Amino acid sequence: MTILVTGGAGFIGGNFVLDWLAGSDEPVVNLDKLTYAGNLETLSSLRHDARHVFVQGDIGDRSLVAALLAQHQPRAVLNFAAESHVDRSIHGPGEFIQTNVVGTFNLLEAVRAYWQDLPAGEREAFRFLHVSTDEVYGSLAPEDAAFVESSRYEPNSPYSASKAASDHLVRAWHHTYGLPVLTTNCSNNYGPFHFPEKLIPLVILNALAGKPLPIYGDGRQVRDWLYVKDHCSAIRRVLAAGKLGETYNVGGWNEKTNLEVVHTLCATLDALSPRADGQSYASQITFVQDRPGHDRRYAIDARKLESELGWKPQQTFDSGIRQTVQWYLSNQDWVQNVVSGHYRDWVAKQYGDRA
Ligand code: NAD
Ligand code: TYD
Repeated sequence: MTILVTGGAGFIGGNFVLDWLAGSDEPVVNLDKLTYAGNLETLSSLRHDARHVFVQGDIGDRSLVAALLAQHQPRAVLNFAAESHVDRSIHGPGEFIQTNVVGTFNLLEAVRAYWQDLPAGEREAFRFLHVSTDEVYGSLAPEDAAFVESSRYEPNSPYSASKAASDHLVRAWHHTYGLPVLTTNCSNNYGPFHFPEKLIPLVILNALAGKPLPIYGDGRQVRDWLYVKDHCSAIRRVLAAGKLGETYNVGGWNEKTNLEVVHTLCATLDALSPRADGQSYASQITFVQDRPGHDRRYAIDARKLESELGWKPQQTFDSGIRQTVQWYLSNQDWVQNVVSGHYRDWVAKQYGDRA
């Protein structure tokens, strides 16, 4: 048996592939375009591991996907591949439509053709698992209940709108063609191998480099944070036992304001790697111009996944943050490779005239 993972050189896909092969001998075919967010260094421990087959390519390349499916005969396809950063989607939404919408469409079509021709038993056992986000549900007011699976889709950014569109395509391919799909909608992830354009790794790296820690607007926006390995275990659980055509919200019951997150990071860094001058890293906090259309609050109600499939996160916010900070402190090589010229260009574009 084999699974095909897309986007497995990215943050969550990379963690998923590493965790999968740590817990199972079932091979993984990993299809990733290696955009700025894809990084083979994340998978360097698998370099000589025959269970991992890496293929550089686009989920939108239908003939490539068809050839991979025919060659490797996977029992499941897990779609992590996406453009994933809200700020980048504001600067340039085109790539988000191309990969998240058109790419997912092409992937679904290639998978449908493969699945239809499988022998009956294998066709029944086959799964297409689509990895999505809580951002499709839009923004909550402080007193609103957390998102449930039946919450209305109200995406507000080009990123979340493109992910919402992909979720709808996946749903329609199930209802119309019977493709055996599962969708997960997860809250904000953090952990090892996170590209430092996102809040948590950006703050860790900037803190250690003595740079400002940029907080958009008033910093009171709320996100619900989940340690990436808990997201990976949820995906494994949904793949194994999820009901076809269903969606599952995944979250850690960790609603925090951005300011709380940054203060927790600073306190953790103060303890693990204190500044030479004895001051707290919190003194580097800087308020900058807000993100346009910034969603105020996300919160996930994960009770369906917990009660129907028995999933529970292993990490609390504090334990997960501590492990994450420790990981960045111990993996400076990975960080240095990621912080390339392209990354510096992005930082200049995003933060240059924001202060
Ligand atoms: P990421 O940006 O770190 O990684 C995305 C990966 O997809 C990269 O390796 C990139 O090279 C690859 N990719 C991009 N376009 C591709 C294409 N056309 N064909 C093949 N590969 C392509 O993203 P992530 O944070 O790992 O997110 C993975 C998935 O999880 C995404 O679908 C995202 O929407 C979803 N998600 C992310 C979060 C989060 O907090 N990061 C939360 C919930 C859901
Ligand atoms: P981010 O990690 O980009 O995830 P998302 O926008 O998908 O939730 O941002 C998390 C929160 O942190 C979001 O409210 C925006 C905020 N933020 C900052 O305040 N400063 C920053 O430099 C970044 C990257 C994000």
